Amino acid sequence: MKKLIGRKKTKTAIFISGTGSNLKKLIQFSKIKKSPISIDLIVSSTKKAPGLKYSKQYKIEKKVVNFKNNKIAEKKILNFINKKKIKFICLAGFMKIISKNFIQKFNGKIINIHPSLLPKYKGLNTHKRAIENKEKFAGCTVHYVSTKLDSGKIILQKKVKIKKKDTAISLKKKILKKEHQLYPAAIKKILVNL
Ligand code: GRF
Repeated sequence: MKKLIGRKKTKTAIFISGTGSNLKKLIQFSKIKKSPISIDLIVSSTKKAPGLKYSKQYKIEKKVVNFKNNKIAEKKILNFINKKKIKFICLAGFMKIISKNFIQKFNGKIINIHPSLLPKYKGLNTHKRAIENKEKFAGCTVHYVSTKLDSGKIILQKKVKIKKKDTAISLKKKILKKEHQLYPAAIKKILVNL
């Protein structure tokens, strides 16, 4: 019988600004034989991002880009990305807004994870706002990045129940655990169509 030749993994860059727990999960996911992605570049908007440690741990190239001037920063990133032949970008706690120009250049191949059940609670402090509004459920969403903040097409969502004793901190922890499952699942769902 003929041996099936495996499809090549899509070269992916992960953009971070903080802890990088989603980055770590995505790296682990990329190492699975059947994973559709390889992670070839980590981009951080700050050298202080604790998640940068995973670059050393997993031997993945990193670039820290100063965002004082967005245009220059994005130009630099596009250069790195072209050099590394990156075809897919995952934002994971990346705290900078990406320009229309950059998004269009990358043509729908940028996705993001957001800690709310979009379209509810775009932007920051999602957990606190959900609790203050006495929501019964909260959750997380993976979506395509569009020119409007947290408004691109939804790929997958996961719900969690908000309990009476939940605080913004406990809810954040609970949702983050779900994010770690949701992000790989969303990538699996869409990557065949890219
Ligand atoms: C996550 O809650 C993600 O949804 C949001 O930023 C946080 C990043 O966490 N966009 P981490 O850096 O992946 O731990």
